[in-house]
Amino acid sequence: MAKKTKAGEPKPVEELSTKEAKAEHVRLELEIEQHDKRYYQQDAPVISDAEYDALRQRYEAIERQFPELHSLTSLTRKVGAAPSGKFGKVRHAVPMLSLGNAFTEEDVQDFVDRIRRFLKLSDKDELIITAEPKIDGLSCSLRYEKGKLVVAATRGDGAEGEDVTANIRTIKDVPHELKGKDVPDVFEARGEVYMTKDDFLALNKRQEKEGKPLYVNPRNTAAGSLRQIDPKMTAARPLKFFAYTWGEVSKLPAGTQSDSVGAMKRWGLPVNALMKKCKSVEELLGHYRKIEQERASLGYDIDGVVYKVDRLDWQERLGFVSRSPRWAIAHKFAAEKATTVVKDIDIQVGRTGKLTPVAKLDPVAVGGVVVQNATLHNEDEIERLGVRIGDTVTIQRAGDVIPQVLGVLLDKRPKSAKPYKFPEVCPVCGSHAVREEGEVDRRCTGGLVCPAQAVQTLIHFVSRNAFDIDGLGEKQIEFFFEKGWVKEPADIFTLEKRNKKLKIEAEEGFGATSVRNLFDAINTRRSIALNRVLFALGIRHIGETNATRLARHYGTMEALREAAAAAGKGDEEAFAEMNNVNGIGKIVAEAVIEFFKEKKNMKALDALLGEIEIEPMAAVAKDSPVSGKTVVFTGALEQMTRDEAKAMAERLGAKVAGSVSKKTDYVVAGPGAGSKLKDAQKHGVQVLSEDDWFRLIGKK
Ligand code: IVH
Repeated sequence: MAKKTKAGEPKPVEELSTKEAKAEHVRLELEIEQHDKRYYQQDAPVISDAEYDALRQRYEAIERQFPELHSLTSLTRKVGAAPSGKFGKVRHAVPMLSLGNAFTEEDVQDFVDRIRRFLKLSDKDELIITAEPKIDGLSCSLRYEKGKLVVAATRGDGAEGEDVTANIRTIKDVPHELKGKDVPDVFEARGEVYMTKDDFLALNKRQEKEGKPLYVNPRNTAAGSLRQIDPKMTAARPLKFFAYTWGEVSKLPAGTQSDSVGAMKRWGLPVNALMKKCKSVEELLGHYRKIEQERASLGYDIDGVVYKVDRLDWQERLGFVSRSPRWAIAHKFAAEKATTVVKDIDIQVGRTGKLTPVAKLDPVAVGGVVVQNATLHNEDEIERLGVRIGDTVTIQRAGDVIPQVLGVLLDKRPKSAKPYKFPEVCPVCGSHAVREEGEVDRRCTGGLVCPAQAVQTLIHFVSRNAFDIDGLGEKQIEFFFEKGWVKEPADIFTLEKRNKKLKIEAEEGFGATSVRNLFDAINTRRSIALNRVLFALGIRHIGETNATRLARHYGTMEALREAAAAAGKGDEEAFAEMNNVNGIGKIVAEAVIEFFKEKKNMKALDALLGEIEIEPMAAVAKDSPVSGKTVVFTGALEQMTRDEAKAMAERLGAKVAGSVSKKTDYVVAGPGAGSKLKDAQKHGVQVLSEDDWFRLIGKK
């Protein structure tokens, strides 16, 4: 978790050194990415919502305090995880984004102040904000054309979701046709699919009667139900829907949020009755408290209250900051608590060798959910909590997942409980586990010699967002690894050739057909996009977003490899170029260079490249006037924020760099631009005003 002070509290972000902030920022990014994947893709989160929110809050606070780290960000622009692959994919015409969180009344006041400042409203100007329950379900987009439901998709990673049309049609709440004279030609209703508490309990009773395993909670059950391959299975599980926003529309029905929701209601879509228009922070907080009081009797799970600016023209002006709208926020409820006993502390070894301690708990019900595991994050967290095996601890869960350990009840400590000593050797391979200066994690030094790391690396290689090989999951990789058949990625592609000898089909659980299917699945991945390959290699700090950034910038593996090799040999320009790729920065660039320096990696990569073909990477918008151009924004921009400017340029296929070099095509300078403007003059780079920029991209 966060860097801790001696007293045990996380070190305030303001007190972090740049080095500490960088290290923590990167670590949080990796951790959050993993949790996103577990939550959105596998419906199997391992930490509580509150714990997740805390990670995310800390991450965002670090970025605010150290804006230079924002360039390393992949997460503030990203929502959720890519679709799981069981269903057809649907590209969202308008991305499905997420909401920022408010946890305190002060956060709500800040939210409103921010909006007023942004819109330059005076105290006398009325600002109406709606407040409505935040439904704890699964967001979906239902597309109606000429009033008829044509396709329904889950959120997925925000850009692309899963086609769950057949399943959505089984939900009684969801009209197959919208009724009314003003139904637009195209209307994507967006909202939450959920299960009521009563339906959830009844379903679990049935499961119990039939001796089947019990479901954890309504949200996960709703998510699991919607993802049933057979729509009959979905139909057998009562799901419901609340519409609260929209995606692509050919014509908006009204000028405000509340009236548009009213229109959805008129057309037959179910909407939540607890939405209220509020004129002040006090009114918002009043409605929040009212909803919180009614929470237990609502009949469905909610985890907060969502506030939205009512006027749609203002929403439009406010726009988005990275992954969330500036015009809306989720005010979360406090988490639920319970006490239980820590029976053991398990150590898990990840792909990068990170040792993660997990508290094994005496099963305990928290808000109706049985909880048995809690991640303890790392050595410092165990020390901060002072937790020992045998201790009674307070745990907290918000929403639906495994809780966080809040503290130890010392008076309940058994006499025999000894301080927990974090292992200094890897529990899997016995190599030294070391903790580098400034790092919170202890890592196994065994590298690929450590079976846990080697296997995890291979599992990562074939995972959904990497090579995504059907039929080659965790179990199969573990099996092939144990057999010594697959030790490195290239081995996957030579399995078929070697199978005359290996005879995989003779192994239990395989059979001729499944082996044929497996080889076919492997062969379809012999041609693959560069960003996927880069992500699959498991280079430190290269998540999907950074992989895509590098792939877009360099276009081919050869170009990236040459750049990394040159930078590794001290070519400053090559280093600066990589460092300047928007979102990359020094730590990531160094990790890439390190990876390409390592002979073992190059050998494995060459072997892999002998088996696959990498598809060239397409830029975002090929035909925009700035696609492929490198742009630097500097000075105080007046018509857009720096984030908006960056996002706009990237959407148009431009690369946004942090500093000016001779490779820069344009410098967009606002008032107060300093050294970058001078650099532009030095390198003869064209300097544009904000207006010039808008003219260039055809927006003025
Ligand atoms: S509005 C641009 N309203 O919460 C995003 N979202 O944490 C607009 N959610 O992604 C979303 N209840 O899945 C909105 N009344 C509500 C909601 C709600 C639940 C979900 C939604 C969203 C997530 C953000």
